[in-house]
Amino acid sequence: MQTIFSGIQPSGTLTIGNFLGAIQHFVGLQDENNCYFCIVDEHAITVPQDRLKLRNNIRSLAALYLASGIDPEKSTLFIQSEVPAHTQLGWMLQSISYIGELERMTQFKDKSAGGKEGVSSALLTYPPLMAADILLYKTDVVPVGEDQKQHLELTRNLAERFNNKFNDIFTVPEVSIPKVGARIMSLQDPTKKMSKSDENEKAFISMLDEPKKIEKKIKSAVTDSEGIVKFDRENKPGISNLLTIHASCSGESIKALEAKYADKGYGEFKLDTAQAVVDVLKPIQDRYHELLNSEALDDILDAGADKASYDANKMLRKAKKAMGLGRVK
Ligand code: TYM
Repeated sequence: MQTIFSGIQPSGTLTIGNFLGAIQHFVGLQDENNCYFCIVDEHAITVPQDRLKLRNNIRSLAALYLASGIDPEKSTLFIQSEVPAHTQLGWMLQSISYIGELERMTQFKDKSAGGKEGVSSALLTYPPLMAADILLYKTDVVPVGEDQKQHLELTRNLAERFNNKFNDIFTVPEVSIPKVGARIMSLQDPTKKMSKSDENEKAFISMLDEPKKIEKKIKSAVTDSEGIVKFDRENKPGISNLLTIHASCSGESIKALEAKYADKGYGEFKLDTAQAVVDVLKPIQDRYHELLNSEALDDILDAGADKASYDANKMLRKAKKAMGLGRVK
């Protein structure tokens, strides 16, 4: 049995990218592994958040995890800020992180591209907190989308650095990135990653979009004028992205879809892609609405925070001892 950890930021309603790159894969891991799934609200505040919206997004994300098939009988689901060990170990890992390596993270570079004056220092120290999330639980495998690969590389480096410098206490985790769906692109600019914080609502499909809206967004997705349904990321990024979405939702292979639409136009292909997305999301949306305001949701998050705190505090004690913090007890 392996230990799995992954987290998602409650910074807006999840997109089909978050689902296909991450959540969908979490569900299948639960039977055979010891899984922790986290709502990383302390990562979300590295950029400004409206406090009421943040509260809603945290609850909504918890309901979406469960509606997508995360089973609290099998997995530990919890909110990062309810387990203080995360920020405590995060601080300790900051003390062995170098400013240079943090400044090299592409996510930091992108988000601070407009100048560093108005950018929070937490945006720079975001990766050591993410490393803490993972290392607290002796995690073997971290399932994520492709955009998190660099952060995972840094997590591995920090674990090894700590183990060599102080004491060999951390498991060095492996990253697991899905073969299809690891990088779902924007519907309006298919050379850019689909993001829940995109200003253009037509660029992403939210997991809570109504079927009609999903159809409309896919119909207006940017493609090319060639009229051939073929996977070619370089020359046909829009169609390739829709093929990826269609394949990941329907379970059909990209090859089979290319053959199926060989003599058909983009119109029919887009309509069927929208239907494949709706077929996956509709049952999740129905369960989501039942769960959102239920007491059961609070009970699950309370139990998750208790279990996670118990496990995380054991590792935190070891890390403090290794670094010489506090007193010998
Ligand atoms: P976040 O909240 O941006 O995204 C959550 C998960 O969704 C994946 N993802 C995508 N996959 C495919 N296509 C896309 N367009 C797409 N957009 C997002 C992400 O790769 C991720 O797996 N730093 C993390 C949260 C985090 C974390 C952790 C993850 C904090 N601590 C510990 C793993 C382990 C983040 O911002 O993900």
